[in-house]
Amino acid sequence: MFALTRYASVRRALRDWETFSSAHGVMMNEDMNQVLRGNTLCSDGDAHDVLRRVLNRPLRPVALKQLTDGITRQAEELAERLVARRSFDATTDLACHLPVTVVSELVGLPDEGREKMLVWATEMFNCFGPKNDRNVSAFPVLEQMVDYATTQAVRGKLKPGSWAEALHDAADRGDVPSEVLPVMMIDYMGPSLDTTIFAITSGVWLFAQHPDQWDLLPEDPSLIPGAMNEVLRLEAPVQGFSRFAVTDYDMDGVTIPAGARTICFYGAANRDEREYPDPDRFDVRRDARSQLAFGTGPHRCVGTSLARLEMTALFTALARRVRRFEVGTADRALNNILRGFTRLETTVA
Ligand code: HEM
Repeated sequence: MFALTRYASVRRALRDWETFSSAHGVMMNEDMNQVLRGNTLCSDGDAHDVLRRVLNRPLRPVALKQLTDGITRQAEELAERLVARRSFDATTDLACHLPVTVVSELVGLPDEGREKMLVWATEMFNCFGPKNDRNVSAFPVLEQMVDYATTQAVRGKLKPGSWAEALHDAADRGDVPSEVLPVMMIDYMGPSLDTTIFAITSGVWLFAQHPDQWDLLPEDPSLIPGAMNEVLRLEAPVQGFSRFAVTDYDMDGVTIPAGARTICFYGAANRDEREYPDPDRFDVRRDARSQLAFGTGPHRCVGTSLARLEMTALFTALARRVRRFEVGTADRALNNILRGFTRLETTVA
């Protein structure tokens, strides 16, 4: 496989879907590319536009307006509770809360599936990677997820008014083919939790290492949305997806031959010194709006506004109450695609 690590090359490939196709899958092994064939993530052109329009409906900024007050309130209550305790795990106690209580409810799976969404998602991302041991041992868990999406994420079992049910409504209207419903369920089940959880924990970790940067936020909360971009730039929760080259392509003097697979490393692109001077420096005043943690081009993350809403609500609530973060034991997640922490012992003052 070819690895694209420069900002300009990654952006060019992600925006040129006619050369760098997603319809042959965006994973790094062909078994997995077969499993998700035809979902939103793994489609191109008109077929992609049709699916994405339906998937995106509840995630548009105008639709999210109705959720803002509830998410803000939950973030404030959570921060109040955890800060009163002084010590907590930034992953399980802090970062998991909004994705697991709010987002999984909105997706609307029956309870048994909701409880398993986190494990399924983590293992699904292991299945996205190259064929290493972690990849191979994740496949049985992925099969459970696909089986569940096919047999349980069905009419009558889904929460009324949920996003998953809206996919069935779209199929009934003929907006999307009904045979893609199970893999479209995975468009919601896979990327909506761990990604945001890892982003939030990485934020706590960065602010613990850089107290001078944290000091700026309580003083001027208008910096918080920009600071979230800087967290995502440095600690991109999704490190890379791949593309399939449809024709020969000259990338900076190297020929990528037709039929080759190319990994777009969002995380590396975000630390390219050609784009971001002194790229390893965490600087909440940097203009990092161009960061690629959500991708770019036709497949840019549909959950961007929701993820930003969750992150901003939490760090705003924390900025009102926390002067300092200190971190103890920090366990990095070992995952083929994701970057973040499974555990981050945190004390606040
Ligand atoms: C910080 C949190 C998140 C990060 C870092 C992230 C990252 C990404 C990236 C890099 C892509 C681009 C895929 C590509 O280029 O092929 C993507 C696509 C996608 N994301 Fe996210 N994501 C996040 C949150 C979410 C949430 C909350 C949801 C759902 C509620 C979501 C749903 C999706 C879907 C469905 C796609 C496929 C879009 C398409 O192919 O058109 N993501 N995400």
